[in-house]
Amino acid sequence: MERNLSDLDGHLTPRYRKYLADRATGGAALIFTEASFVRQDGKGRKRQMGVHNDSIIPPLAHLAKEIHDHGALLGIELNHGGRTAQAKVSGLQPVAPSPIPCAVAGGDLPIELDEDDILDLIEAFASAARRCIEAGVDVLSIHAAHGYLIHQFLSSRTNQRKDLWAEPTKFLDEVLDAVRAALPESAALGIRISAFEGAPGGLDADTTRALITKSRIDLVDFIDVSAGSYEGREWIVQPGEFPQGFLRTYAAKYKPLGLPVGVAGRINSPAAAEEIIASGCADFVSLARALHADPEWPRKVLEGQAPRPCIACNLCIDTLGSGEAVPCSVNPTVIDPDPDHAPSTDSIATAGSHDHLTPLPGYAAPRSMVVAILGAGPAGLEAARALASAGCTVALFEREEHIGGQFALASTMHEYPEYGRILQWYESQLRHLNVTLQLSTEAGFNEIAAIRPDAVIMATGATGHIPDIPGSKLPRVADVRSWIRAGKPILPGATHTVWGGDREAIAVADDLAQRGARVLLVSPVQELAPDVGARAKILVVPRLLSSQGVDVRLSTTVTAIDDDSLVVSTGENTKRLHALGPVLISHGVVADTSCMKALTAIHPPAGIHLVGDAAGRGGQVAVCISDAAALARRLIRELVSHTRAG
Ligand SMILES: Cc1cc2nc3c(=O)[nH]c(=O)nc-3n(C[C@H](O)[C@H](O)[C@H](O)COP(=O)(O)O)c2cc1C
Ligand code: SF4
Repeated sequence: MERNLSDLDGHLTPRYRKYLADRATGGAALIFTEASFVRQDGKGRKRQMGVHNDSIIPPLAHLAKEIHDHGALLGIELNHGGRTAQAKVSGLQPVAPSPIPCAVAGGDLPIELDEDDILDLIEAFASAARRCIEAGVDVLSIHAAHGYLIHQFLSSRTNQRKDLWAEPTKFLDEVLDAVRAALPESAALGIRISAFEGAPGGLDADTTRALITKSRIDLVDFIDVSAGSYEGREWIVQPGEFPQGFLRTYAAKYKPLGLPVGVAGRINSPAAAEEIIASGCADFVSLARALHADPEWPRKVLEGQAPRPCIACNLCIDTLGSGEAVPCSVNPTVIDPDPDHAPSTDSIATAGSHDHLTPLPGYAAPRSMVVAILGAGPAGLEAARALASAGCTVALFEREEHIGGQFALASTMHEYPEYGRILQWYESQLRHLNVTLQLSTEAGFNEIAAIRPDAVIMATGATGHIPDIPGSKLPRVADVRSWIRAGKPILPGATHTVWGGDREAIAVADDLAQRGARVLLVSPVQELAPDVGARAKILVVPRLLSSQGVDVRLSTTVTAIDDDSLVVSTGENTKRLHALGPVLISHGVVADTSCMKALTAIHPPAGIHLVGDAAGRGGQVAVCISDAAALARRLIRELVSHTRAG
């Protein structure tokens, strides 16, 4: 899995080594770095790892030693981007079997490879393999999936040659042959395939299996089954709506070939992994996002603990193209820029207090330190977890009957079936850490003063903003959040208007449509949900735009509402639309700091701190959780130095 943690020349950085070493200590048997380019013109992303020249060997050797010291094996996936590579990244015009641009990757017109260059590329794969072996790598995998160069040769959609390289498996066979010859006996060689391309005119499952069966798989030691291609990206990194471990039946089709078979794709719960192995569909599971969300996933699962779950939100893959370190919505430690200086929240536990958390001397706060947290949304939950892990006594107050805040509301949407899992995880963590959680409690001066906190955290969230237009106070008008809290009522036969174009608006419109309601979506913006990346909305936007029951009006706003209609404007034109039913508004949020004034009289020694939406942080769970983790670290330092000084 690429993480944008290499330097601009493709070398592993200390930060990347630390990231991978954390996964090795977390119990994974075999750690793969990422799809690594074997030649400069196959580089697809600015900070992608390279295995293209000898300068990569020293840092790779360093990593191999670290991974081995932690008892794991190291694997490298050899890759060339072909038509998906971009000149603005690699500095070179991309090459491909045929000159067919890949619009979703940037649309550069690739040069059609000539015979000499094909042979040079095969040698580039072999040379890269030799470098990896010299560095101490244990396992090589040939990337023949996801629409990259080898996959491009396999598919008639992208290989329209007339020469001998038109034969779909020829390039793959030559690469396998050359790489195998470059490897010592002790090294394992595998292949990653896409069970199907998932793109119009692309390889289906039967054709792919037939091609792989006739290729030189006698040269490999395992097959790792994934899916998709750039034009079928939802199959590569799947949204949460796809069932967990859904590729297992495709993997099972490769078992008769007599090689160990692995499978990837939405394997993010112990139950899904267990079921795949127990059913015999595959011999091993390949985890990407699950390990990104929790580096200790394997060890925790083996010890019967719950790992922090990936919620399949796809923020990680949506960030990949930016060149920024790939974040994780639920795991703030992956974007911690200086992990040695600022310890991860999982490593600030009091020594011995929770044996699954690693103690870090100097950051353990005495148990007597008391922190009061108002609001049990993601920010409040993470702050509570991190502080309690560090030994603080934490009292968490929530005015609703349940934890989760607006995130809990989102978890009821059709689009987000996995969101509730992180809330369940926090619930169990807080129980385990003895956090005092008081639900249905609107904490004010008396409740907070009574516990004499050293610090107070206000994670009180935000409320929806209703624009002041004629009719906005009618009973049928509501903020989308209030409507969800009210149980998402549907009025039979009526048109349900959603006014807004942000992530919340489209999730609500989609949820309504999925439950059979007629929907009018009035979006002030031209692009639906510009606030989220393409992969996070890869199913929902096309579904809304093509749904019979959904009328989408882009670049349109509501200027007035009356009992059975709306006045809408596109700037130049104004018209009245008949729409009898709820008018649900999603127009951003306003930080809720209403109880701040009452609390300032408490004067806790380490202060009162706003975090998450209450601090105006824009409603993104990743931001709320990482801000809360950073605040917890800062507070612990302050509390520790305060104690020392005192
Ligand atoms: C940020 C990101 C980067 C990825 N990079 C790679 C890669 O370098 N090579 C690869 O074969 N798959 C890559 N993938 C795909 C994953 O390996 C995996 O097949 C896919 O995410 C589905 O599995 P998961 O549900 O365990 O994440 C990447 C996925 C993500 C989210
Ligand atoms: S960012 Fe989202 S999809 Fe990616 S690993 Fe984290 S929780 Fe999973």
